[in-house]
Amino acid sequence: MKCIVLVGYMCVGKTTVGKALAKSLGLTFYDLDWYIEERFHKRIPQIFAEEGEERFRDLERRMLREVAEFENVVLSCGGGTPIHHGNMDYMNGVATTVYLQASPTTICEHLKISKGERPLLKGKTPEELEKFVREQLAQRTLYYEKAQYTVNVDILDDYDKIDDVVRLIRTKLSLLSESI
Ligand code: S3P
Repeated sequence: MKCIVLVGYMCVGKTTVGKALAKSLGLTFYDLDWYIEERFHKRIPQIFAEEGEERFRDLERRMLREVAEFENVVLSCGGGTPIHHGNMDYMNGVATTVYLQASPTTICEHLKISKGERPLLKGKTPEELEKFVREQLAQRTLYYEKAQYTVNVDILDDYDKIDDVVRLIRTKLSLLSESI
């Protein structure tokens, strides 16, 4: 089976859903940020701080081209992956792409409780954060919507709903009967 790639804005639940989807299908899970961190022995915020976003986007482009061609894996991308270096067209060519779509309100709610450090959001007040998320999501949606499938994840307000989202994705991808 071709790689299933999950795309979408920061904090929509790509990693959580990706892990659960991989488990339910008996596939291996990869997270592109984690893959980059392991390969380069540096955390993402450290790469941004020491080498800048441009360097990060270059590493992201290269690592994506390694992982997205693996078979029998689920891959969660970073929120910015589809936006840069023609990555979205590339992913559509080699993998099955799924956009996890959430409203700015849902995203801001998730960001409030998220523990991960996100360089692009660092140091913003709640008001600035909300404005930034709305504007950036509006710009990025054009790229996310190029994915072959779209699944709305606004229902994902607690962990009980992960299985529902996994079922939605499996239904869209006609993978309901494949269970391991
Ligand atoms: C980014 C999202 C992050 C990470 C980096 C940049 C973005 O991944 O790749 O901080 O540009 O949206 P998550 O979407 O997993 O937070």
